Amino acid sequence: MSESGKRDQFGSRIGFVLASAGSAVGLGNIWRFPYVTGENGGAAFVFIYLLMVFTIGFTVILAEFILGRRTQRNNVGALEKLGGKAWSMVGWLGIVASILILSFYGVIGGWTIKYFFSIFKGLPTGADAAAQAGQAFEGFISHSPSVIFFQGLFMIATIFIVSRGIGQGIEKFCKVLMPALFLIMIALVVRSITLDGAMAGISFYLKPDFSKVTTPMILAAMGQAFFSLSLGNGGMLTYGSYLNKKEPLPSSAFQICVLDSLVAFLSGLIIFPAVFAFGFQPGAGPGLTFVTLPAVFSQMFGGTLWAALFFLLLVIASLTSSVNMLEVASAHFIDEKGWSRKKTAWTIGGGIFLLGIPSAISLAGDLTIFGKSFLDAVNFVASNLMMPVGGFFIALFTGWVIRDEAQDEITNQGSLSFSLLPVWQISCRVVAPLAIGYIFIQGL
Ligand code: ALA
Repeated sequence: MSESGKRDQFGSRIGFVLASAGSAVGLGNIWRFPYVTGENGGAAFVFIYLLMVFTIGFTVILAEFILGRRTQRNNVGALEKLGGKAWSMVGWLGIVASILILSFYGVIGGWTIKYFFSIFKGLPTGADAAAQAGQAFEGFISHSPSVIFFQGLFMIATIFIVSRGIGQGIEKFCKVLMPALFLIMIALVVRSITLDGAMAGISFYLKPDFSKVTTPMILAAMGQAFFSLSLGNGGMLTYGSYLNKKEPLPSSAFQICVLDSLVAFLSGLIIFPAVFAFGFQPGAGPGLTFVTLPAVFSQMFGGTLWAALFFLLLVIASLTSSVNMLEVASAHFIDEKGWSRKKTAWTIGGGIFLLGIPSAISLAGDLTIFGKSFLDAVNFVASNLMMPVGGFFIALFTGWVIRDEAQDEITNQGSLSFSLLPVWQISCRVVAPLAIGYIFIQGL
């Protein structure tokens, strides 16, 4: 709700699609997608990821829109209103997942701010530019006070936007950001694929070797699809709740899947040719994008300007995702407990910042759980486990428990025809839950 007591709504259809795409597009596409692809062997992973987006992802995104718009409530409230107390637990799962994700997302968001400012000190130059980029990254992440400082800045920006409310804050940013980000990425693709030695990267990224497919890889692809689309944690449900009754849900859901996977795809097309051209390791882990990009910029005419623009857009793209996560976590307290928007955003956002500190410190190397850094472990649990479990229950709930209401909502009370309705219904009731359940159990 806005401070005036009326529930916010998106002002226009394009505003909604761009805000939802803004929530989807973020570090998940530009930071997480390339390094997870690199760790999972390249093109075969990309193929499975895209398959996940357009099957399970599309099914669940539509289910979330239905739940949100039908009830005009938050994650917990929506499920409780339609299904009672027991189902509201799925909403709580989403809130916990959002909080966990935002805790480390704030850390990586902080990296983007740091990189934006570092550009003005100059890009790496000379024959060993790539090695310098690697050293600069290592130097930064091993100095925890700086990492925490930038994480704090990122979280303050997130809290500030959420405290101002949906309509004025989020929609306005996304309308400008998304087209600009897209254009600059195209320029980067052109530079990257024309580097000497880029071909090996293009083939790693685009020539699938299906003998590399394993069940943990499929679990990782599913986790990436959920993370990137902000699914299973109620991110899309929450935005759907601010959508007016006239907009067509299926085409909005489809457009978001297309935009989100397109940005991820472009980002791989920037990173992998450059990774191979500069002799980095594709499986290098979470630092991949941050090491590779400065090396690419150092090879571009006007590199500093490109870099500054890119990191500025990346900061904003990350913010449009982080505000969605904080919104998911906050909406319950605003709607149900009557807290003011400001108080909620600062209290919950402040708590999430503190929760993220172990992730920030873990990058320096000492804080590990089960052989993973603390950040990687939280990332794995929230993205590969909690989000798919949330999506599993959301699909079952929408497909079985509220089947007639779901049909009514998806067709805008019968006024809109959706030719894929039977396919979506089967997917929601049977295919998506079975697939998620199977991959989940196998992958573990
Ligand atoms: N969906 C968000 C992203 O991809 C979390 O960054």
